[in-house]
Amino acid sequence: MRIRKAVFPVAGLGTRFLPATKASAKEMLPVVDKPLVQYAVKEAIAAGADEMIFITSHTKNSIMDHFDRDYELESVLEAKGKEELLKSVRDVLPPGISCVFIRQPEQLGLGQAISCALPAVGDQDFAVILADDLISGAFQPCMAQMQRVYQEYGTSVLAVQRVPWEETHKYGIVEVEEIRPGLSEIRGIVEKPDPDKAPSNLAVVGRYILTPRIFRLIEKTKPGAGGEIQLTDAIEALMGEQTVLAYEFEGTRYDCGSKFGYLKANVEMGLQHPDIGEEFRGYLKQLTSEWTESDDPKATGS
Ligand code: UTP
Repeated sequence: MRIRKAVFPVAGLGTRFLPATKASAKEMLPVVDKPLVQYAVKEAIAAGADEMIFITSHTKNSIMDHFDRDYELESVLEAKGKEELLKSVRDVLPPGISCVFIRQPEQLGLGQAISCALPAVGDQDFAVILADDLISGAFQPCMAQMQRVYQEYGTSVLAVQRVPWEETHKYGIVEVEEIRPGLSEIRGIVEKPDPDKAPSNLAVVGRYILTPRIFRLIEKTKPGAGGEIQLTDAIEALMGEQTVLAYEFEGTRYDCGSKFGYLKANVEMGLQHPDIGEEFRGYLKQLTSEWTESDDPKATGS
């Protein structure tokens, strides 16, 4: 039992990154040298998926181009003997992996975006990865960890993370009953509660394994704030019919949909990068020591 289809909803407007996202996709913003969406696809492949389903919009053609072969570029790199670059371009989509692109005609929310995947997903369980939630730094990529839970229980699994209580109003927050440390059954889900109303500080982040029943439930979901059809509402209905698990993944999550999270991802992944990590570390050390000196009244003599 393995999840073979991964859905990437990439049709959002990305308003928090305007004007950068006016004509180009938020998911194509690079973290060091790879676009966010490439990290997401790599994670899906590492979990065993072999069909990538992108829910896109008219400003997102660059995503389709990115996962297409570029024979002209490849032949130029080949002629110049740039083997490593050629490999990096070819590795964007390994052999045996297929891509499907579906347009979301109007940005009516994450739930509605996922419902657009129905013709490609059919009646199979499937994964959803939000590319702007970049997760790294664990023994195994997040979706592969979730896949192991799915193989054990054969039901829907949501990735969750403990967040500071004062931040519960930014997330979908779950009420749970523990099965074992790090794994629980979800009893309730509340969208963006204030800390005093939050049932826990376990927040849902952008990784889901869902059963196809979710499509019918999204169809029945009424639009909420801003006319958007929320995935959270459909998940709440799913919980009434089937077991939905909350899995506390290992790894660091960067909210690359926000400027601060995106900058943190670039700094931390930059420090780990095999080509530039050491140089970048030296640069940051020098920069921070300059700050320390100028902050220190004794050092500046004032
Ligand atoms: P966000 O809540 O981050 O919205 O969507 P957004 O439009 O991308 O960004 P902001 O808030 O305006 O800055 C979460 C994920 O759901 C997708 C987005 O592309 C993102 O991956 N999404 C959202 C859709 O595909 N369609 C939608 O209608 C809404």
